[in-house]
Amino acid sequence: MKMALSINVAQAIVLLVAATLLGVSQAKTVVVGGDEKWRSGFNYTEWAFQSNPLYINDKLVFKYQPPSESSSAVDLYWMPDLYSYMTCDFSRAKLLADATQGNGAGYTVALDQWRPYYFASGPSNGLNCKDGMKFFAVPWPRWFK
Ligand SMILES: *[C@@H]1O[C@H](CO)[C@@H](O)[C@H](O)[C@H]1NC(C)=O
Repeated sequence: MKMALSINVAQAIVLLVAATLLGVSQAKTVVVGGDEKWRSGFNYTEWAFQSNPLYINDKLVFKYQPPSESSSAVDLYWMPDLYSYMTCDFSRAKLLADATQGNGAGYTVALDQWRPYYFASGPSNGLNCKDGMKFFAVPWPRWFK
């Protein structure tokens, strides 16, 4: 009985320490581009650099207007690898959100894995992307905090 109790206490301490290190409740939500939101003609490389560090389970919100007479379409693609990202090659890219899905509350992506995430806007044959409307994010595990 006493043995069982001390094991439970030890387990509880391990869990407490793990939860603290992992910071499971501290995930944050970041609006991509800040006040600029997600728009053409803005270079996201610098913004992405300043948004670091991001951690696993943080969320990115992409907010953009649907296409209108005054603004052309932007959207959101997930590029499969660094080379596609660098060259703005959308042939194997995956559409995450179309031109209308950034409206209102925006489109949210949860960074739930430890991997690079490559984002880019696709319209105009990749022209948005080539103009700088792309960035990548690598969310870190909390225990590196
Ligand atoms: C965006 O900014 C980065 C960092 O300053 C720069 O290296 C890159 O060439 C810029 N991209 C464009 C399309 O201007």
